[in-house]
Amino acid sequence: MDKIVINGGKALFGKVKISGAKNASLPLITASLLTDKPLFLHNVPDLADIRTLHKILASLGVKVTQKAEHSWEYQADGITSFTAEYDLVKTMRASFLVLGPLLARFGECKAALPGGCAIGLRPVNFHLDALREMGADIEIQEGYVYATTYGKRLKGAEITFPKVSVGATENTLMAATLAEGTTILNNASIEPEITDLAECLQSMGADISGIGTSRLVINGVESLHEATHSIIPDRIESITYAIAAAITKGKIEITDARLDHITAVADALTAMGAEIKPLPNGFSCSGEGKEIKGIDIVTTPYPGFPTDAQAQIMALMLTAHGQSTINETVFENRFMHVPEMQRMNADIQLTDAFSVTIAGSSELKGAPVMASDLRASAGLVLAALAAHGETVIDRVYHLDRGYEDIEAKLSACGADIRRIKAPVKGDSENGNSDNITA
Ligand code: UD1
Repeated sequence: MDKIVINGGKALFGKVKISGAKNASLPLITASLLTDKPLFLHNVPDLADIRTLHKILASLGVKVTQKAEHSWEYQADGITSFTAEYDLVKTMRASFLVLGPLLARFGECKAALPGGCAIGLRPVNFHLDALREMGADIEIQEGYVYATTYGKRLKGAEITFPKVSVGATENTLMAATLAEGTTILNNASIEPEITDLAECLQSMGADISGIGTSRLVINGVESLHEATHSIIPDRIESITYAIAAAITKGKIEITDARLDHITAVADALTAMGAEIKPLPNGFSCSGEGKEIKGIDIVTTPYPGFPTDAQAQIMALMLTAHGQSTINETVFENRFMHVPEMQRMNADIQLTDAFSVTIAGSSELKGAPVMASDLRASAGLVLAALAAHGETVIDRVYHLDRGYEDIEAKLSACGADIRRIKAPVKGDSENGNSDNITA
């Protein structure tokens, strides 16, 4: 397993170009299953999760072809399988997003249950209940979801999600585009990634209204067609580099980014004393000469403070003056980075399973630490950038799932960061690589 070594304590100055959003790309790639015509996606980030999804699609018979750097063509005109195998699904929950599209277009799908993960139980009951309301017969056997419509089209239905769920909204939205009649999704997620998906589906011929609101109305159509779509910038990546500037008391210009997608975080960073300035193609964040103060944060679905930025803001809170608190309301086990940060001399107390108190003014010290999930790894990288001495972060494959070229982007701003490569082993992952042309 690769490791990342950081010698902290250097203020970062420079420019970082933000990649396409991972969490928008994943559903958009599975949307290609909705039509036999090609879907061209631009600004697809080069990430481990994208490569995993390419393998899953290829294993179903989708032709996955790289057209240029960050541009891919997907054509599902020769589907040979309706099964998303456990070996691939277990590495990435978002692969469960093949369910809605396959069921809508072919009336059939067998998908491995994703199971729990480091940040919580993460069930898929909302996805299954919604598809059942649309007429699918769904059974769970031996860790697999078997879904069928018995050869019929899915039927439009009025669905009210019990809780806001990004994945359930995406799966159901995609399924509804090809359903017979009208589907109404109440309490739908309004994350920018959902809007991006809905807009791409519209350019594929879907009839969707209420985009950007929590009530989506989808009039099903018989088929979708070819489309080209450019993926929105990764808001969590942009937040991570903004915090890198604030925590090192430097200044980073974050380009190809959308400040309007990170309003809650920009407000929090401003309240903490960092300076955020809009730029024509992004924004800048500065901690230069600023006193960073503690703050209280509650994570909630969009447009609230994102759970995916919780570990990163925690790193900044460690070095801030005064106490901070975080109340995590989205996932039940998302403080795995706390004991690792404590190894770096952080003063954090778990109040209960959902909240932490951070004393502030910690003199962070480099230490060997271990990444437990994607965003926890980003939190550890940020803490390491501010720490005195060397931090060695193990299990950085988590980081590689969601951050393209992180060492290069941080080095360009003056960070002392390097990767220790693990010996390369053979590619033992499943998937039909014959269908992937890169
Ligand atoms: C997506 C994001 C992830 C982000 C999360 C919340 C992708 C690929 N991943 O994950 O980065 O942290 O949104 O913003 O976009 N829940 C259920 N039953 C369900 C579905 C969800 O109880 O069927 C619960 C979850 O356990 C969690 C909450 O609902 O507590 C929100 O989860 P959800 O929005 O579905 O997260 P994901 O789509 O998995």
